[in-house]
Amino acid sequence: MTGVVAYDREDAGAPPSLVPDYRSTVLRSPRQPLVRIPATLTETSGPTGHWERLMVGPSGIDMTTQHPGAPQGQRIVVSGRVLDDRGRPVPNTVIEIWQANAAGRYVHSADTWDAPLDPNFTGAGRVVTDAEGRYRYVTIRPGAYPWGNHKNAWRPGHIHLSLLGPAFATRLVTQMYFPDDPLIEIDPIANAVPMPYRQRMVGRFDIDTSVPAWALGYLFDIVLKGRDETPFEPDAGDDHDH
Ligand SMILES: [Fe+2]
Repeated sequence: MTGVVAYDREDAGAPPSLVPDYRSTVLRSPRQPLVRIPATLTETSGPTGHWERLMVGPSGIDMTTQHPGAPQGQRIVVSGRVLDDRGRPVPNTVIEIWQANAAGRYVHSADTWDAPLDPNFTGAGRVVTDAEGRYRYVTIRPGAYPWGNHKNAWRPGHIHLSLLGPAFATRLVTQMYFPDDPLIEIDPIANAVPMPYRQRMVGRFDIDTSVPAWALGYLFDIVLKGRDETPFEPDAGDDHDH
């Protein structure tokens, strides 16, 4: 048995599956107690075969150079480490990244908000942590966008992240927020994670990784499991467009 422990809704900091203020959780949260499935080799072993092909790639990417021109918005550098519950780096793990553009619009057929698409920004990327668990990507700061949860509902700017981790049971889907965003404290999704754990989803501005005359730096370490783990988003299902 490895040190991998399956995600547990009862972990401190883990958002409950039912968060009435986040309306869509009312219908999709389970009505019955969850059935505990012991973590066996199936859950604690790493990807094999074709999955290994996912585990190679650059530890850094630039999502502002995927098109002929530069995207609109504030250029930022997000970097950090992926760690396990004992503070050990998690090397060679995939981080998938997706986000709205500077106007808060996604390149997604389900996003019909009346904000402009940016022909120079797709908002999707993928990095693989290096031997020290480090990653780095360049992007633009995503804008806030409205959603239909309640009257005058706006999501704070956020970057969606999915991590495979070293085993299937360590999969983490979460969001990174920005420290100066007043929408966080009134956002039902962010607020589904209790304080002080909510702060683990907020990146930290960092002047040392800011690039002079080019981009602002944000640090964001991601902990896959344990006392300081980064919380899941309230429902890590297919709700990717929120
Ligand atoms: Fe979103």
